Order: sequence, then structure tokens, then C-alpha cells
Amino acid sequence: MPDNPALVNDPRVTATMRFTAKVSGYKEYRSLTEDPGRYLVTKDKKDWKAFKTPGLRELALTSPYMHNGVFETIDEVIEFFNKGGGDDKNKSPLLAPLNLNKEEKQELKALSLKFRRRQLLKTNMYFLTSSARSRCLIILSACANT
Ligand code: HEM
Repeated sequence: MPDNPALVNDPRVTATMRFTAKVSGYKEYRSLTEDPGRYLVTKDKKDWKAFKTPGLRELALTSPYMHNGVFETIDEVIEFFNKGGGDDKNKSPLLAPLNLNKEEKQELKALSLKFRRRQLLKTNMYFLTSSARSRCLIILSACANT
């Protein structure tokens, strides 16, 4: 994962990162320049800079992306994975170049924009009484227009 220059150069972020490392028992916290990720929990070298695989629900609304917010757009994320997902030494073997063409990248983007709660809610609403369902639909369409 590339560094986010806006975070690397922000002393508040460095201080918070070092404080978190200190309370996690990381002795060299004063010289820390990168987020150790899950390593702080397990103290296992293979977890150095490992981060949780996030859910993709509401992706259209949750920019910036990745643990450090380095990508502003979904296109940047797709490009990152298309090129193989970075060059970290602990990288998962599942991450390899995808060689997607322009259309495939567009389809992936269109799909990821569809992970919306509104649609999930609509599906779940079939369990409601008809009057509750119509009230929910009014609220949902009001939300969609804001
Ligand atoms: C075309 C394939 C893929 C797409 C489109 C994709 C999409 C995404 C997106 C949009 C995010 C950011 C989510 C957010 O910040 O809210 C993300 C993060 C992540 N993805 Fe993927 N992903 C792909 C493949 C993979 C694979 C194969 C793996 C693991 C083997 C993986 C592991 C992760 C991890 C660990 C993160 C969090 C990284 C961090 O926070 O720094 N992804 N992915």
C-alpha cells in the first residue's frame, strides 16, 4: 500500500500512531515512521502492515479508501489491484496483476457502486406489513433525494 503523503507529513498522525504503538507495548515507538497494522496486536512479523479487509457496503459514500485513505476514487483502487496490489513483502499470494481491460474495469466500478444499503433494505422490506413498507419507501426516497 502506498503511503499517503498527507498523513506522513502530519505530526498529529505521527503522534497518534506512536501513542497507539506505545500502549500496545511496542518499545521502539519513538522512531516509528509507518503504521505497523495488525502487528501491534499479534507481535507476529508476518502481520507487519497487515490491515483488515474491509466490507464494500456503501463504497460510493466512503471515500477516501484504504486504511490510510490514500485513494480518493474507486478508479484508483481498481487500478491498484489491477496492477497486482502493491509490492509489500508480506503481500497475499492472491494479489497478482489482473490485466483487466477498460470495459472490465468499468464493469467492476459499476458493480461496486451498487453495494447500497437502500437496495438491501428494499429486499428486506418484503417481510414488513404493507403500511410499514410504504412508510419505509417514503423515507428511503427522501434519503435518495438528499
Ligand atoms: C479486483 C479486485 C479487488 C477489488 C475491486 C477490491 C476493492 C477494494 C476496495 C474498494 C478497498 C477499499 C475499501 C475501503 O477502504 O473502504 C479494498 C481494500 C482492501 N482489500 Fe481489496 N479488492 C480487490 C481484491 C482484493 C484481494 C484479492 C485481497 C486479498 C487477497 C484484498 C484485500 C484487501 C485489503 C486487506 C484491503 C484493506 C487495505 C488497507 O486498508 O490498507 N482485496 N479493496
